[in-house]
Amino acid sequence: APRVLRTVPEVKAWVETLQQEGRRLALVPTMGFLHEGHVSLMREGGRRADVVAASIFVNPTQFGPREDLARYPRDFEGDLGRCASAGVEAVFAPEPSVMYPPGYQTYVDVTDVSQGLCGERRPGHFRGVATIVTQLLALFRPKVALFGEKDYQQLQVIRTLNRDLHLGADIVGMPTVREADGLAMSSRNAYLSADERQRALALSKGVRAAQALLSSGTRDTGVLVDAVRRELKAADLREDYVEVRDAETLSPLGTVAPGQTARVLVAAFCGATRLIDNMPLDG
Ligand code: PAJ
Repeated sequence: APRVLRTVPEVKAWVETLQQEGRRLALVPTMGFLHEGHVSLMREGGRRADVVAASIFVNPTQFGPREDLARYPRDFEGDLGRCASAGVEAVFAPEPSVMYPPGYQTYVDVTDVSQGLCGERRPGHFRGVATIVTQLLALFRPKVALFGEKDYQQLQVIRTLNRDLHLGADIVGMPTVREADGLAMSSRNAYLSADERQRALALSKGVRAAQALLSSGTRDTGVLVDAVRRELKAADLREDYVEVRDAETLSPLGTVAPGQTARVLVAAFCGATRLIDNMPLDG
């Protein structure tokens, strides 16, 4: 079973031992309720470094006042089992007061790439994400840190803060792991009723439809966005946003030029549950 670390001094001592042994570290930050998507990051960490650590921390600063912080799903014992079978040697599971002790006052704001999309729909969200990920990278100083493309804007925010703050990790983005029918795996899928679970397929169907349209020569992003909207509407999901953006800068696009790498991104409410998905669009 993995070693469970609870405090900053415990992490520092563990990391120091690794450094003395000359072992390279891979870090996988999570909020727990782990699924195959998280496990894929852990396994890739094992291929890219000598030791893998995961963090399990439901980070309060990235949740809005009307969001699901209090009811975010948890299963710490199950998570430890999944970490063990994925080869994780240490799990950092701090209390909120460890990461945000009295007097804490430092926040990280990644400006441009946090604009629009989830940054606009969830004010303060990426400030919270950037702050906790900066803390984790500063504390663990990993050789590599792994994140999922499922949260595509988050991945770009993290690449940016790692570069700008000279944190020195190789940031690895991993493809979205999906259920057999195409639904992107997410801890929040646990909130869905059987009926909602079926209707939730509209997100993956929509972004795949946009991909197929681009492959058949439709470069106008308005038309690609409409294809996603049709799927949401047919399943009675409420759109939060549907957009096509440049895959790297996340700037909005009117057309997908030949050779351009773009991304179609969707967020929608399925009942009370907000779900996201995205896919590459290669011009
Ligand atoms: P969480 O939602 O637990 O996700 C942890 C990591 O797993 C993220 O990098 C996320 O993109 C990745 N992930 C989630 N679902 C995935 C899937 N279906 N396929 C592949 N990867 C997937 O994202 C967070 O936690 C937090 O914001 C965090 C970065 C830990 C900061 O608190």
